Amino acid sequence: MSDTPSVKIAPSILSADFARLGEQVAEATAAGADYIHVDIMDGRFVPNITIGPMVVEAVRRCTHLPMDVHLMVMEPERVIPAFARAGATILTVHAEACTHLHRVVHQIKEHGARAGVAINPATSPTAVEEVLADLDLVLVMTVNPGFPAQEFIAGVLDKVRRVRRKLDDLGAKAELEVDGGIKSRNAAEAVRAGARVLVAGSAIFASEGGVREAMKEMRASLSKLPS
Ligand code: DX5
Ligand code: ZN
Repeated sequence: MSDTPSVKIAPSILSADFARLGEQVAEATAAGADYIHVDIMDGRFVPNITIGPMVVEAVRRCTHLPMDVHLMVMEPERVIPAFARAGATILTVHAEACTHLHRVVHQIKEHGARAGVAINPATSPTAVEEVLADLDLVLVMTVNPGFPAQEFIAGVLDKVRRVRRKLDDLGAKAELEVDGGIKSRNAAEAVRAGARVLVAGSAIFASEGGVREAMKEMRASLSKLPS
């Protein structure tokens, strides 16, 4: 590997203290986050339920950073207009939750957001292959979505490598993001496999030393690249 790749860190507010959400988003912003990752769960696609467009709109007012909104919802086409209006910069839907993925990707763009597609650990990259050239972001889940602070599934890294290769072969512009169980101890490994955006929830917001220290530690772990 010749050049050190530039890597974005996207703290997930799922592990933030919701009683002082604005403050926590501002802390992550000041600590050098690149995106604010917002997890939307509907209680159907995943068992958990989180927040809706009203909270996204409130977060929008607390940061200048792009908002990376991860929709873990069935039939996301029903809610895309509302989340786009709320200020989402990137809207990522799950391939498993869309019957007409191509239509949904273009719906996101028509609403002025960047389009992302996520795949679960058990989903093959072929599920996104036909729309890859249209995407701004591909999210390879490194846990089964639904909860924070789950164990990183190392076996998914091989898929990350395959998606990286495919994007490079196509000359596609989509960013490759990983989400779930990312800590400073495995971040470099994910980047070596080809990830360029790292979502981290509990590692940033539930860390004992606080948000700033956790961000510093994550960045430091990436300074060992390349290898
Ligand atoms: C999982 C969510 C993640 C979650 C990650 O369903 O999509 O974004 O917040 O949390 P950690 O980093 O704690 O695994
Ligand atoms: Zn997420």
